[in-house]
Amino acid sequence: MAKEPVRVLVTGAAGQIGYALVPMIARGVMLGPNQPVILHMLDIPPAAEALNGVKMELVDAAFPLLKGVVATTDVVEACTGVNIAIMVGGFPRKEGMERKDVMSENVTMFRFLLLPMQVLVVANPANTNALILKEFAPSIPEKNFTCLTRLDHNRALGQISERLNVQVSDVKNVIIWGNHSSTQYPDVSHATVKTHSGEKAVPELVADDAWLKGEFITIVQRRGAAIIKARKLSSALSASSSACDHIHDWVLGTPEGTWVSMGVYSDGSYNVPAGLIYSLPATCRSGEWTVVRGLSIDEDSRKKLDLTAEELTEEKALAYSCLS
Ligand code: LMR
Repeated sequence: MAKEPVRVLVTGAAGQIGYALVPMIARGVMLGPNQPVILHMLDIPPAAEALNGVKMELVDAAFPLLKGVVATTDVVEACTGVNIAIMVGGFPRKEGMERKDVMSENVTMFRFLLLPMQVLVVANPANTNALILKEFAPSIPEKNFTCLTRLDHNRALGQISERLNVQVSDVKNVIIWGNHSSTQYPDVSHATVKTHSGEKAVPELVADDAWLKGEFITIVQRRGAAIIKARKLSSALSASSSACDHIHDWVLGTPEGTWVSMGVYSDGSYNVPAGLIYSLPATCRSGEWTVVRGLSIDEDSRKKLDLTAEELTEEKALAYSCLS
């Protein structure tokens, strides 16, 4: 029997991330090659014509899995019946701006949205935007609100693969802790590489602690800014692809023995203050994520986990002050 289509909302769909993301969803990259989809695309009125152009292109591409397209500037129409929401729309960060500079722009925008079941926030400051969305939807379980740090996770995999000259698909279990910002902590202490003689620890293979604790971390933390500097636009191809990875694994599950990084509602594990959207290592089964527990955290890592938690606590206070 044919599967029922899943309705996927993309906000900011006429923007550059939206433009890269919607064809991936329509092609089955996000939900698999057998899952029909109906795309709900929302954007602001000044982008209405461009949004209609994206709809025309989706029709022209004749995607077999795409069973319908809603393109609208009306929030209620966009959100009706939606199963998965990817919140891409947000005020874009420009060169030289920090997360907090765009926060007040976004908080105002998000408060009008009706909320569907599984939510991924991409728009920065992604962690705190997800937290604010959760505040506006007390009837929706907090587990349904997540933010994108899979982009940072994938960036870390990419850097290790380049450094070791191995296939990126053979590297796994890096962790991004904390905020999707320059205070995030990309941690490879539990990461491994598949080799002919079994799985090997990344720190052992790299054998350069100074690089792993220095340049590697800085590259991943500042990659977003480096892309903005190079393209004069923020990352779109990698952001869209990572958003697909995030939803794909959340809905369809993570491979055995592998975890991914997701910004999720913290419950106090790893002594991260409860009540933040904080990136943690997670596995997924049957549409539910679970934090990987019991990983050892050394003293240096502890400081880094705390530092990014402090920034998120400050962002949270700032966001609430914008709301009042
Ligand atoms: C990124 O990480 O590429 C995006 O979140 C853009 C940014 O502001 O860094």
